[in-house]
Amino acid sequence: MTVITHIADLQALAKKRVPKMFYDYADSGSWTESTYRANEDDFQKIKLRQRVAVNMEGRNTSSTMIGQTVAMPVAIAPTGMTGMQHADGEILAARAAKKFGIPFTLSTMSICSIEEVAKHAGAGFWFQLYVMRDREFVARLIERAKVAGCTALVLTLDLQILGQRHKDIKNGLSAPPKPTIANLINLMTKPGWCMGMLGTPRRQFGNIVGHVKGVEDMSSLGEWTSGQFDPTLSWADVEWVKKLWDGKLILKGIQDVEDARLAVQSGADALIVSNHGGRQLDGAESSINALPAIVQAVGKDIEVHMDGGIRSGQDVLKARALGAQGVYIGRAMLYGLGAMGEEGVSKALQIIHKELELSMAFCGHTQINTVDRNILLPGTFPS
Ligand code: GLV
Repeated sequence: MTVITHIADLQALAKKRVPKMFYDYADSGSWTESTYRANEDDFQKIKLRQRVAVNMEGRNTSSTMIGQTVAMPVAIAPTGMTGMQHADGEILAARAAKKFGIPFTLSTMSICSIEEVAKHAGAGFWFQLYVMRDREFVARLIERAKVAGCTALVLTLDLQILGQRHKDIKNGLSAPPKPTIANLINLMTKPGWCMGMLGTPRRQFGNIVGHVKGVEDMSSLGEWTSGQFDPTLSWADVEWVKKLWDGKLILKGIQDVEDARLAVQSGADALIVSNHGGRQLDGAESSINALPAIVQAVGKDIEVHMDGGIRSGQDVLKARALGAQGVYIGRAMLYGLGAMGEEGVSKALQIIHKELELSMAFCGHTQINTVDRNILLPGTFPS
């Protein structure tokens, strides 16, 4: 049995245990994957300043995101089809987040429904929304999120159309997998995953199938996106969603300073600097590189979060130093989930927390709230 010490160990285990099409779905970016790679690589270019002989006792990583207390400034990102990485995946990840004291964000494209996850989620239960052509359905989703007790709505602005991920097309990605010879051969090598799936009724898009007229069987994200996601999405829709929701609103997918200014004008509570994990515009800047200019332009007017490329506590620390009040982990969580279910997500959170707490102390801080860009080596970070 491998001793798990860092996120890459969970990733290796997930690769063994999760059917190829779902592992590939998580571990891929669009087209050449250059932005996907840059998200991680650009974190490595930033160097930390080590300080010595400072009192490292009493370390504390707790902070706030949109005014809500978090045990560390990390939330679980909304990821599509999480319940295909492991049976009941969204429920398990929500439980791990609750135990740890960080927010869990449920994707519109989840397998477990909002109502099912709500029974297991903690105080930080956030819902991610896609705007679809069927506005009645969107309005109903917003209402369902309210009734389920979600404390923030995360509105995604960068996926009206879908960036092409080659592997998904080649693998014939669908939930549940179609019984082709290639899939069946692959599934035979994943007995634990198969047992889990046989033991749960949750194998389709739980927020959608049965809730939209005429959608009794909707197996692929691509199919749904091209038919249902609204390519006309505009800032007027953001206003419409904001009115309907009437609660904390976070806008996800901001990469450009001009858009960040529009996000401020919209009256949202926070924005997420994000390129959708390198899954949409291939060739876009990495999130960590895009962050500082956005913080500088609008950081006083709106809370700035970021996602993309976070695989360690050191990455969290660097993002925080560059002005992100909080970050989101998608793949790091999925790898834990695919590797070991709820225990694996807890493990991923513990790993990131420990790395964050110790690295922060090496940089001379015992409180995450006092960290700023002085912990970074001049000339090594984007501005
Ligand atoms: C959906 O959000 C995806 O990136 O696949």
